[in-house]
Amino acid sequence: MLALARRQLASDRVRFVHADLFAWEPDERYDAVFFGFWLSHVPLERFADFWHLVARALKPRGRFAFVDDAFRTPDELIDGEDSSTVQRRLNDGTAFRAVKVPHTAESLQGLIEDLGWEVEVRRLTGPFFWGEGHR
Ligand SMILES: C[S@@+](CC[C@H](N)C(=O)[O-])C[C@H]1O[C@@H](n2cnc3c(N)ncnc32)[C@H](O)[C@@H]1O
Repeated sequence: MLALARRQLASDRVRFVHADLFAWEPDERYDAVFFGFWLSHVPLERFADFWHLVARALKPRGRFAFVDDAFRTPDELIDGEDSSTVQRRLNDGTAFRAVKVPHTAESLQGLIEDLGWEVEVRRLTGPFFWGEGHR
């Protein structure tokens, strides 16, 4: 996927990094950090650590933005509706367990604010929501 993205973008202004985000440390600070369809895959026990990472990646007046969804089908909920674990299948039928936390705009707003951020999370149509904010 990284090779495909690199080829399609063909820009020397973009650096692609192959890393485990839970082990990665930014080597510079940015004006903005964006994450698309990522937050709902962060286990709740790692939620606070992830936001500390966002803080380390931002310049003092930097801002974050994200978009995500809470889409989980009934047949994916192998551990029940309250669990963050779902089972998803690839096109070849292989099954994998994945983290998919069913955040709502309201619940996320509270969780992120509790970590000391100014944030606005808004519902979009369907299961989608976006958020943006700063320290
Ligand atoms: C739902 S996809 C979203 C991908 C992309 N942001 C988009 O909007 O199309 C979640 C991505 O997170 C990646 N991912 C999962 N765990 C990760 C980790 N620990 N470190 C880095 N990436 C991870 C997956 O490989 C997958 O590409």
